[in-house]
Amino acid sequence: MKSLIDITDLDTVEIDGLIADSLDIIAHPEKYARVCERKKLATLFFEPSTRTRLSFEAAMYELGGNVLSVAGSGTSSAAKGESVADTARVVSCYADIIAMRHPKEGAALVAAMNSSVPVINAGDGGHCHPTQTLADLLTVYREKGRLSGLTVGVCGDLKFGRTVHSLIGAMSRSDDMKFVLVSPAELKLPSYVKNETLKKRSIPYYQTEDLDSVMPELDILYMTRIQRERFFNEEDYLRLRDSYILTPEKLKRAKPDMCVMHPLPRVNEISVAVDDDPRACYFKQVLNGKYIRMALIIKLLREAGRL
Ligand code: CP
Repeated sequence: MKSLIDITDLDTVEIDGLIADSLDIIAHPEKYARVCERKKLATLFFEPSTRTRLSFEAAMYELGGNVLSVAGSGTSSAAKGESVADTARVVSCYADIIAMRHPKEGAALVAAMNSSVPVINAGDGGHCHPTQTLADLLTVYREKGRLSGLTVGVCGDLKFGRTVHSLIGAMSRSDDMKFVLVSPAELKLPSYVKNETLKKRSIPYYQTEDLDSVMPELDILYMTRIQRERFFNEEDYLRLRDSYILTPEKLKRAKPDMCVMHPLPRVNEISVAVDDDPRACYFKQVLNGKYIRMALIIKLLREAGRL
């Protein structure tokens, strides 16, 4: 039975299929309104979320299914010390599919190993966030008409930024890609991500601390938040939090068709004055996330023989 823990659990043909299915859902929502009737999605979120949890739940409701939800580590028996493994075994007695967010890297994998239904990793610590990447890929496809031949700038917290790790893992499988990694020295992309994706596949990339100078060459600018919750001390966070703030002035140097993306939530790294720029795509990402999660739920339930 297939779960989705890391974006590389899906090959490029499967990702293309999910994008095609999402486009069909967008064009013909009525065809999908009862596909998951009598099926249940459990959303187990042991870390805060707005978009991921609600988009999974909206996705299941729009497919005609139902939702069981745990939101917050204090509201389930995890607070009494129940393990992730036991939680997964128990919840898979009630639900047909599980989406789980957890602050610990590897928690979703442990859940999948102990669940009798598919598990979707909705973010595990600073490791991976594969369904955000699916939302990102659908957005790139809808905005650019392709997933290849692009120069992608990723900017901000590349060390703890799980959305960036998953995005690079996915897009480095496309042809003719180039990455520009923009971060403070302390928040550089981890070596394991560079070694397992960029270096292994001989993808051109370079690292810089200077966003302004690279702006003119980018097709995509993927901004990320400096994440207070991942820092070991407040001083480091306060020193680094304002490293990059995208403003309309800075965007003057960008290509007229560059896409500005961000997984959200943002703090101050994209000025609200950028929201009206036609290149701002981050709220489109939010909506695309719901559509591709609909496609993913259908795919995993079908593969598990539950549809
Ligand atoms: N992008 C994202 O994961 O947002 P939430 O933390 O609100 O789910």
